[in-house]
Amino acid sequence: YMNYRVPRTRKEIFETLIKGLQRLEYRGYDSAGVAIDGNNHEVKERHIQLVKKRGKVKALDEELYSKWKASESEEGVQQEPLYRIVFQKHGRPKVFTRPSSDKQKEQFVVIHNGIITNYKDLRKFLESKGYEFESETDTETIAKLIKYVFDNRETEDITFSTLVERVIQQLEGAFALVFKSIHYPGEAVATRRGSPLLIGVRSKYKLSTEQIPILYRTCTLENVKNICKTRMKRLDSSACLHAVGDKAVEFFFASDASAIIEHTNRVIFLEDDDIAAVADGKLSIHRVKRSASDDPSRAIQTLQMELQQIMKGNFSAFMQKEIFEQPESVFNTMRGRVNFETNTVLLGGLKDHLKEIRRCRRLIVIGCGTSYHAAVATRQVLEELTELPVMVELASDFLDRNTPVFRDDVCFFISQSGETADTLLALRYCKDRRALTVGVTNTVGSSISRETDCGVHINAGPEIGVASTKAYTSQFISLVMFGLMMSEDRISLQNRRREIIRGLRSLPELIKEVLSLDEKIHDLALELYTQRSLLVMGRGYNYATCLEGALKIKEITYMHSEGILAGELKHGPLALIDKQMPVIMVIMKDPCFAKCQNALQQVTARQGRPIILCSKDDTESSKFAYKTIELPHTVDCLQGILSVIPLQLLSFHLAVLRGYDVDFPRNLAKSVTVE
Ligand code: F6R
Repeated sequence: YMNYRVPRTRKEIFETLIKGLQRLEYRGYDSAGVAIDGNNHEVKERHIQLVKKRGKVKALDEELYSKWKASESEEGVQQEPLYRIVFQKHGRPKVFTRPSSDKQKEQFVVIHNGIITNYKDLRKFLESKGYEFESETDTETIAKLIKYVFDNRETEDITFSTLVERVIQQLEGAFALVFKSIHYPGEAVATRRGSPLLIGVRSKYKLSTEQIPILYRTCTLENVKNICKTRMKRLDSSACLHAVGDKAVEFFFASDASAIIEHTNRVIFLEDDDIAAVADGKLSIHRVKRSASDDPSRAIQTLQMELQQIMKGNFSAFMQKEIFEQPESVFNTMRGRVNFETNTVLLGGLKDHLKEIRRCRRLIVIGCGTSYHAAVATRQVLEELTELPVMVELASDFLDRNTPVFRDDVCFFISQSGETADTLLALRYCKDRRALTVGVTNTVGSSISRETDCGVHINAGPEIGVASTKAYTSQFISLVMFGLMMSEDRISLQNRRREIIRGLRSLPELIKEVLSLDEKIHDLALELYTQRSLLVMGRGYNYATCLEGALKIKEITYMHSEGILAGELKHGPLALIDKQMPVIMVIMKDPCFAKCQNALQQVTARQGRPIILCSKDDTESSKFAYKTIELPHTVDCLQGILSVIPLQLLSFHLAVLRGYDVDFPRNLAKSVTVE
C-alpha cells in the first residue's frame, strides 16, 4: 500500500495493511509480514522496519500493536506522509517469512508470491561475491540480487525500475514482486510473471488518464546507463497516471482485489513482465521489449465486486456462507443468458466463436481439483448436446503426457481463480499449438480469462473458502449452458434441450430444498466424525459427485476419503467393504439406477451399512439403507448439482466437529500459482 500526500495516521495505515492481509488470508496463511518505511527523509537515517510473524495475520496484528502502541502514544496523531508497503505470504511453509530483505540494513525489501526455479544458481553466484544468506528461500535471493545489482551499478542515478528490470532478467519461474528501498524513498516498483498482481487506484480527484501507455525500451547492459539518464528522468506526465493537479492519489498492490475492494474498485491488471513504478505520486508502466501482440496500454478497470460479498455475515465460515449462497449464485450464472421463454441460451463471450467451435475435431476440457470435477460432471451432457468427442483432463497430467493437440481442437480451461499454474501452463501449451482456447473462470482480469481467445465468466461472486463449493455448481451450469448453445439448431435435440432448460429454471428452488436438510446432515456428521475413512460411491452422471464429495471431505476434515466409480467396485474397492467401513452411495433415478442397485446389493451382501443419497420417491434403495438422505428430483444431467450439496454440508459439519478451521485447511492455499 502506498500513499502520496494523503495524510494518514499510523493507526489508519496499519489497519489498512492488516485488513488487506486478512482479506488475503484465504490464499495461504502460514505467516505474514509488513515492511514500513521510516518517515525520516535524511538518507543516513532512513530505514525500513520489518515485522514478520508465523501463523495467522492476527498474530502479526498483535505483534504490531504491541510494537507501535508505545510510539503511537508518543507521537499522537501523525499527519505527515508515510509510505507503506505490505505483502502477503505464500501458502507454503518457508523458513523465511516474506517480506524478505537483503539484511544489510534492510536497504531493499521485496514481497514475493510465486517460486523462483533458478534460485540455487543465483544464490551460488551471490555467495561467491560475499553475500550471506540467512534462510533457504528463493525470496531472499531476490532481495540479495537487487542489492548486488545496485552495488554494481555503472551510474549513480540508476532508476529503481531499471534495477528491477535487471533483476527479473535473471529470474526463472513464477513471481509477483513488489520492491521498496531506502535508496528510493517514496517509490515502489512492482512486476509479475506467471503470478497475479494488480494495482488499486484511489483518488478523490480526477485522474490524468484511464489508459496508461506502456513505455518500451530495449535494455542491454551497455545502454542502461544512457537509458536511465534520459528516460525515467524525462518521464513526461502523459506517460503516467496521477491525480490531476498533483492532488492526492493512493496506490495498492495486491494479489487479488479482495484485499483492496473496501478502498477502491478501480484496478489495473498487470501483464507478465510489466514493470510498474510509483514515484513522486505518479504511476508509470514499462516493458523491456515490444512484441507484435502487445497491447500498448493498460486500462483502469472498474470491478463489480462489493465488500459485503467478501464478508462472512451471519455464517461461521466462508465455506458455509458459500454453500448457502448457491440458490443465488447459480441464478447469477444463468442471469441474462438463459431465456426460459424462448428456450435459448446466449453466452456473449462465446457467440463470435460458435461457428468455429461447431467445426472442431474435439473438445478438451482441462482443470485441476474441483474444476476438473466440473468437467467430469458435464462430460456426458456435453457429448450428447455437442455431438463431439469430449476429453476431460487434469492439467498436470495433460502436460506430463505432452498430449497431442491440434489447431482444430477447442480447449476449455476451467478455473475458479483463473490463476492456477498447471491450468495456465496447459492453456499456453494449447495456444502454442494453435487450438482455440476458452476460459471458464470466476475472476475477472485473471490470467486465464485474459490469455484465452474467448470465455465464460461464471459469475458466482468471490469465493473465499479454500474448499470450492459454489464455483463448482456454477462451473457445472456454465458448461451445460455451453452445450445448450451448441445444440440450438439440432432438431433432434429440441425436446431434450427444453427438458434441461426447464430443469435449470427450477434449480434455485430445489437447491433451497436440499439446503433445508442441513440439520439432518449435521446429525449424520455426529455419527461419522470419529471415523478414519469414508467412501463415496456412484456412477454415471454422479461419478463426479463422488469425486467432488470425497475431495471436500479429505481437504477440510483430513479423513481419508475416496470417490469410487460403482462400475469399478468388483475390480478392487469391494475388498474395503465390511461392517465398519462407512460408505456413502449416490443412487439417483437415472439411466444408471439399476446398475447402482446392483452395487448396493454387493455392499449389503458384505455387511456394509450404506448411507444412501437418493431421490425422494425412491422406495427401493431405502429398503437396504442404513440411512438415507432424500433429495428432490431433477433432470438426470443436472442431478449432480443437487447431490453434491449434501456432501459439501457433510464435509463442513465433519470438519467443525473434528475441531478444524474450515476456511483454513492445513497445507492448502486458495490459488495454487505454482506447478
Ligand atoms: C478444492 C479446491 C481445489 C481447486 C483447484 C483448482 O476444494 O478448491 O481443488 O479446485 O486448486 O483451482 P481453480 O479452480 O482456481 O483453478
